[in-house]
Amino acid sequence: MASNTGSAKDRAALAGAGLVESGMVVGLGSGSTAALMVRHLAARVEQEGLKVVGVPTSAATAELARSLKIPVRALDEVALLDLNLDGADEIDPQFRMIKGRGGALLREKIVACASARRVTMVTAEKLVERLGRTAPIPIEVSTFGVKHTERLIQRLGASTSIRCHADGSLILTDGGNAILDCHFRDEIDPGERDRQLQAIAGVLETGLFIGLCDTLIVGRDLDVEVITTGAERRP
Ligand code: A5P
Repeated sequence: MASNTGSAKDRAALAGAGLVESGMVVGLGSGSTAALMVRHLAARVEQEGLKVVGVPTSAATAELARSLKIPVRALDEVALLDLNLDGADEIDPQFRMIKGRGGALLREKIVACASARRVTMVTAEKLVERLGRTAPIPIEVSTFGVKHTERLIQRLGASTSIRCHADGSLILTDGGNAILDCHFRDEIDPGERDRQLQAIAGVLETGLFIGLCDTLIVGRDLDVEVITTGAERRP
């Protein structure tokens, strides 16, 4: 059972797990909301005999899913995912998102792009008018030349910090890359910002997720809202 059953976050996670049908291949996101969803999904597998295959977006999610007896496959072992279930750090009125606070953004984006339907589970405080005012934009970069890549990002008008352990060593993603957290002084269109960042050598992926939310689940204290976004889809 999920540890904080009844919370807004858990309501969103429960609704996400409820979208899974027997026979589906399902992307399992990362972070605390996704972890709650995995627990609810495991309960359905056990209690309803639901047949699913999970494709985890991080080592932590893979470990959790396996420990709860959800069959797990690597992304390249499946042809297509029916559904992807993941959280987000911020989401704007056009259903564009910032993700990656947990550092899994590259794998999360690859799995989302391989999925027929992309579902985001959030609580209401993640809904924002403009992306980046409260959360930094995480950017996954090559460890090779990380400070040079950082300088190029700063030239776009960002203040940046490299995620490091207390001893100063780099915090690495599951793919062995570094993460820069970026605050931009000016507010430009997130799609244009994403294009600027993707053009920099050393940038592997950005935490701007655009066209990757077909269904938004918003958990609140007393209820949950499921929104079909109709947002233009990234292929
Ligand atoms: C992981 O890298 C992130 O993209 C998470 O999905 C995001 O930070 C949301 O996490 P929570 O569900 O813990 O808020």
